[in-house]
Amino acid sequence: MNISIIGAGYVGLVTGACLANLGNRVILVDVDREKIESVKRGRSQIYEPGLDEILRATPVEATHDLAYAVENTSISFICVGTPTNAPEDPIDLEAIKELIREMGETLNSHHLVVVKSTVPPGTTENVLLPLLGSNGRRAGRDFSICVNPEFLREGSAMKDFLHPDRIIIGEAKGGDGDILAKLYQDFGCPILRCDLRTAEMIKYASNAFLATKISFINEIGNICKMLGIDAYKVAEGMGYDERINSKFLNAGLGFGGSCLPKDLKALIAKSRGIGYEPRILEETLKLNEEQPLRMIALLKRHLPSLKDRRIGILGLAFKPNTDDVRESGAIKVVKALLAEGAMVTAYDPKALDNFRKLFPGIEYTAAEEVLKCEAILILVEWDEFNHLDYRGKVVIDGRRITKAKEAIIYEGVCW
Ligand code: UDX
Repeated sequence: MNISIIGAGYVGLVTGACLANLGNRVILVDVDREKIESVKRGRSQIYEPGLDEILRATPVEATHDLAYAVENTSISFICVGTPTNAPEDPIDLEAIKELIREMGETLNSHHLVVVKSTVPPGTTENVLLPLLGSNGRRAGRDFSICVNPEFLREGSAMKDFLHPDRIIIGEAKGGDGDILAKLYQDFGCPILRCDLRTAEMIKYASNAFLATKISFINEIGNICKMLGIDAYKVAEGMGYDERINSKFLNAGLGFGGSCLPKDLKALIAKSRGIGYEPRILEETLKLNEEQPLRMIALLKRHLPSLKDRRIGILGLAFKPNTDDVRESGAIKVVKALLAEGAMVTAYDPKALDNFRKLFPGIEYTAAEEVLKCEAILILVEWDEFNHLDYRGKVVIDGRRITKAKEAIIYEGVCW
């Protein structure tokens, strides 16, 4: 099939590269000419295992010319970002609205527009659909629109795209999503057809549940810590129950990233906007915002005053196998350390440069240098942290690095 991918960010790049690798003709569109030039050279600008290899193996056409892409394809996946806005209005839809307006002006034969960007329930039918038909073009005749949410995790996005647990296709009316179902027919997983807002809600509810599961096990972990119980052993016992399952039961520093926090805040705002107070979701978010500060409290049990003390940080990304620091727990931890007058020395295998943009005033160095600090906080479970020498150190562990237990003083945030 001839497919446009609008938005060469994290989701667009992975979606485009995988669909091209599966034999489709793909045209990637972005306003950022640097991104376009990078794709033309077979390189992505993000760190995602396997992405550059697949881009080199299956070249993807890339352009900044939206009209050219729409005219030369029959499906367009909208993958532009819907970043967090102000707390009371947490989703910025301007980019996607502007894009849809522009698309509405270029459609000249039937085209399937697929919203893959994460938008609050009701957005596609109430905001995007009217914009697409704003200059006389009619749904059904000139275009159809579907919602096809992504469930990609950074660090395993290629696998998640090629081997999904399910495909969700939201459609305004029966049949609109047939071509999309055909595109995904060989993915070997259930394909759920539903209406537009249900598809949007499945995405939000899925991420809100994952966030809630993490805050739940962190709450259990905080209680366990006070009772001298290992939350990981508790999680192991819970996980045998297939209704619970063992995934996303790693207690620790909490969740970060560009999705879980943003989508949770958006769903909370949407709920409040319709007059419903989402108490579980609010507590999930509140507990997560406080969780990283428990590391500081544990540290102060051993170093009561942090002023002028040099504290080491291992791990700055929001999770391993990514260079992404958005909403990383390390942000709250470093802010709290600096507020206490501490000096911070940090290392991360991939995220140093991104984190330095946020905190240019702290020291960045190799892991071995971080280990020379008066105390070390482990914030990301990078595999290489299981191969360091922690003997004689003071370690506060937020991510269960077992090797660190050899430290002379070792404290786990939830164990
Ligand atoms: C998430 C969803 O998993 C994915 O389906 C959605 O499409 C995008 O958002 P991502 O943010 O890339 O993916 O990472 P994920 O692996 O879900 O981890 C999110 C955060 O939760 C990370 O900070 C991670 O450290 C944390 N986490 C995860 C825990 O603290 N405990 C766990 O058990 C699992």
